[in-house]
Amino acid sequence: MSAVLKSGVTLAVIAAVCAALVAITYSLTSERIAVNEKAWLEKSLEPALAGLTFEGSVSGSMLVVRTPHDLPGPDDVIIYRVYADDLPVAALFAVTARDGYAGAIRVLIGIEYDGTVTGIRILEHRETPGLGDKIVASRSDWVFQFDGRSLGDPRLEQWSIRRDGGEFDQLTGASVTPRAVIKVTKETLIYFAAHRDEIFSAPATEDRE
Ligand SMILES: Cc1cc2nc3c(=O)[nH]c(=O)nc-3n(C[C@H](O)[C@H](O)[C@H](O)COP(=O)(O)O)c2cc1C
Repeated sequence: MSAVLKSGVTLAVIAAVCAALVAITYSLTSERIAVNEKAWLEKSLEPALAGLTFEGSVSGSMLVVRTPHDLPGPDDVIIYRVYADDLPVAALFAVTARDGYAGAIRVLIGIEYDGTVTGIRILEHRETPGLGDKIVASRSDWVFQFDGRSLGDPRLEQWSIRRDGGEFDQLTGASVTPRAVIKVTKETLIYFAAHRDEIFSAPATEDRE
């Protein structure tokens, strides 16, 4: 056998062994990873559901609304539904505000069946530390002002920051970021009001492509 052929065979054997090791490791750990991921997801959804009593897993009731849709943002939107005794309790929307100061802001919005906001949390953002990042619950109380509010409280025209004639607090020196979060929340509340029954009756989406 030529030296070239020999090294080729050796390399092929090494590659096959490595591939087999990766496959074995994956099969041994994938279930645990899935369980951990689910626990992490459930934990991160909880804060937006403050005070609600519900049953079952929130992440198990996922509904993916594919584009085109009337929700904010250019992407498919994930909604998690929450039930108690098979009755709808609340829905959690993971939506995108495209008009943040530094780009997209991913927002988790919890809405009770009657249209009241249960909580809002920022999932992802690139806003400036000390300015726009005060929308994050651990940085300031700003995001808590939406708890218990709804489309009628304040009136639709007042879903904006005070300096724009609205009812909500702005952030000093950073009006772009709060405008984006308030707009995405208002649009999601409007969507929820128009589609509530179909949201809760739709079957869960099994797979995300
Ligand atoms: C370096 C830098 C970073 C900024 N980051 C933000 C931000 O994260 N969010 C925001 O709304 N405005 C940010 N601003 C300010 C905006 O440019 C804009 O002036 C402000 O949002 C307007 O708010 P005001 O009308 O309350 O002053 C930043 C400005 C600079 C110079």
